[in-house]
This record gives sequence, C-alpha cells and structure tokens, in this order.
Amino acid sequence: AVYPAEPWRIKMVEPLRTTTREERERALRAAGYNPCLLRAEDVYIDLFTDSGTNAMSDLQWSAMMRGDESYCGAASFYRMRDAVRAHCGYEHVIPVHQGRGAENLLSRMLIHPGHHVPGNMYFTTTRAHQELNGSTFHDVIVDAAHDPADESPFKGDVDLAKLEKLIGEVGADAIPYVCVGAPVNMAGGQPISMDCLARVRELTAHHGIMVVLDAARAVENAYFVQQREPGWSQRTIADILHAMCDLTDGATMSAKKDSFANIGGWLGLRDADQAEQARGLVVLYEGMHTYGGMAGRDMEAIAQGIVESVQEDGIRARVAQVAYLGQRLIDAGVPVVRPIGGHCVCLDAAAILAHIPQRLFPAQTLLAELYLHAGVRGVERGIVSAGRDPVTGENRAPALELVRLAIPRRVYTRAHLDAVADAVTDLHRERRAITHGLRFTYEPRHLRFFQARYEPV
Ligand code: F0G
Repeated sequence: AVYPAEPWRIKMVEPLRTTTREERERALRAAGYNPCLLRAEDVYIDLFTDSGTNAMSDLQWSAMMRGDESYCGAASFYRMRDAVRAHCGYEHVIPVHQGRGAENLLSRMLIHPGHHVPGNMYFTTTRAHQELNGSTFHDVIVDAAHDPADESPFKGDVDLAKLEKLIGEVGADAIPYVCVGAPVNMAGGQPISMDCLARVRELTAHHGIMVVLDAARAVENAYFVQQREPGWSQRTIADILHAMCDLTDGATMSAKKDSFANIGGWLGLRDADQAEQARGLVVLYEGMHTYGGMAGRDMEAIAQGIVESVQEDGIRARVAQVAYLGQRLIDAGVPVVRPIGGHCVCLDAAAILAHIPQRLFPAQTLLAELYLHAGVRGVERGIVSAGRDPVTGENRAPALELVRLAIPRRVYTRAHLDAVADAVTDLHRERRAITHGLRFTYEPRHLRFFQARYEPV
C-alpha cells in the first residue's frame, strides 16, 4: 500500500458537485479571479484550508449533544479546559472563537508600540495582530525555510544567531515574546525540532523573554519529531506534544486544525496575572471567560478532538495522505516545497510560472488556472498574502511564491487526491500557455488575500 489505510470508516457523506469549464469561467469572473470569493458549491475538491473543514468523529458529534449552553460556568468549558491541561499542561485556558481571537488577546496584553516580535516566519493573522498593536515583526527562521528545494528535515527551526542578534540590537525589554509556529504554515508545514525549541527556551530564559507557541498544528509537529529527530522515536505523540508545550510559557490555539473542530480555540497561559488580564479582555472581545465566543457544544467537540488528535494511527494516516499527494507531484516533475509538510502540499508558482514576474502575482494566477482547469481550490501563499509593509506601504516580496493545497483531515479519499495530482500535472505540462498575470481591481487593507479582486493583465 502507498500509505496505511485510514483507521476509520465513513458514516456520513456530503455530495460533491462537478461543473463545466464554462461554468467555472463564469464563477471565477464573478469572484474577481479570487477563488476565496467563489461559492463553495462551485468548487469540486476544496483544498483552500484544513481549518474548520475537518470531518468530526461519531464521538465528537455525540459529545456535542451534551453541550452545556449555560452563559456562565458551563460544564463543557471545564471539560475542554481539563483536556487542554492534560495534553498541553497550561494551567490557565481562555476560550476564544478561533485562533485569531487568542492572537488578539495576547497581542493587546503584551505588545506596546515600539516593541519587536521575532517569529519563525510570519503567519498572516498572527503578524496582523502584532502590527496592529504597534510592534515590528522579525523573521528569525533558518534560511533553508525560504528555499523550496532544500530537503532539511526541520526547516521550521529558529536561527538562534538571528534571534540573538535581534536581542542584542533592540534589547530584551523591547521583545515581549518570541512567537514559535510549530510547524510553520507559510513555509509549507515545516516542523521545528525539539532541540531547537529547547535552545530557544534557554536563550529567552536567560533574557527573561516569554515563548508563545502557535499550537494550531502542534500534533503534526510532534509527529515529525517522532519520525525524524534522534532520541524521540520511542516517545508517543501525546508525550512529545506535552514536552513541546513544556518549553513554552503559553500558546495560541486554533482548534479548527489538529483538534478537528469546525470552530473554536483557546489561549493557554501559565502565569496567573497574565491569565487574569486575558480573562478581563476576553469578556470584551469574545464573551464570558467560560465560553469565549463558542457554544458549549463547540467546546465539547474540542475536548474530544484533542484526545483523538494524539492517536498514533490517526496522525500517521493524516500526514501520510498529505505525503502521498506530494510524492505524486514530485514523481510528475512538478516543483513543490520539499520536504512535504504535515497539512499541505505547496506548488512552487515562482518556478512553474517563471515567465510571470512576481508583481503580476504568479501564485494567484496559477491558483485561478487550477480552479478553471479542474474545479480544485487552493490558496495563495506568496506576495498577495504577504501584504504591504505597514511603515513604507510597499508590497512585501517573499522568497516563497506558493499555491497551497491544504488537505482537510478525514475528508477526502485517495481517489480525490489522484484527481488533484492529475489536474496539477496537466496544468504544469501546459504552463507555457498561461501568458497573463493578474492585477488588483480592489485591494483590501487587512489580510488582503481573502477579499481582493483582480483582472487579468
Ligand atoms: N496560526 C496558524 C499557524 C494558522 O494556520 C492559523 C489559521 C491561525 C493561527 C489563525 O487561526 O483561523 O482559527 O483564526 N490558518 C488557516 C489557514 C486560516 O488556512 O492556514 P484561525
């Protein structure tokens, strides 16, 4: 077998709609050439994101029936809190409606104008909240992360020399925390090693700087540690996840990823004063500190989802399915980010459409063409996603110009992935027929990739 059979079977199905090329052309034009603005029913295989799009289990659905919808002190909150405590070890758990809610609270609490926040590459919503609160983001990831062809096993690692240099330049007092993504979404799902995380902990402890984990896909990171890092192969996924969290002071969590929930998240903290501050803010932005914008049933789904997320056969099947799609594309000679990450396969649009300059948005163009060709939807992870520098107003031009195909958990079969691989392979073969790029007809101020509109140029 090319990958282990999934440790579940399918109980409920949802029909998919196929469309003609003419229908897709009409739909894409109406969407301003931005697949984000398509109606989902016009999409055949939707690889826009693995966030909130996962299939819940029978146990999650049944747990939802006992959701306690009390405004204050719901039993469902305590079940979720206890699951987070047991698996991640954070004493204080502040519920939020999704990951960016936690980023908002954390950024408002800890960031002051003039601050500097280092991170192992940026994430769109995370950096947006850091900048909205007046800080400057500094990418301190290893150089290998910016090279799609580099095969290093831990391309999510922090470059300690870059971090140390920044501390020397701006001073530890101007750095409220180091933001550690594990794995790194924008680099294609590349993991950080335990060894590196321990070094980050040591360096920051020396300077009195907090470490905050972006835990959205930390279970996938734990899996790569188990598979790739010397000394960890005998440890369980649950064990490695806890050990990762042990090296941090807090975490922002989007439970829409690893925890298989359709919505929800949390902010985990160890410090009691910080937790009190966070509970003071959550009531303003999300809701009471025992629901944070979630229904009781959402918190039940997360509590059960956390337990399922660390099951060894489940995470193995998940990562292997993603690797399968990646390998099919590699075998077909399609340039993709290597090694294949935990949640996505990223097409190297800069290489595939090398004849289109970055200012004409090659990744957004490839994304649109993939939809037209096969009804497959991904997301742009290049110059559009990178946005503008808040100080200079100039476009930020990242080294990675990617189309991300994110695989929802427990949703698609191997035959679906074969259809995607065939479509991408065809498109790659005919890439020279794509002679236009795109330009904005509408450019939103924040997180522009979601709602921008374009015209061919
Ligand atoms: N951090 C990471 C690493 C993420 O990938 C996301 C969301 C967030 C934080 C924010 O969480 O969406 O629950 O508010 N990523 C989705 C994606 C949107 O498609 O990569 P959220």
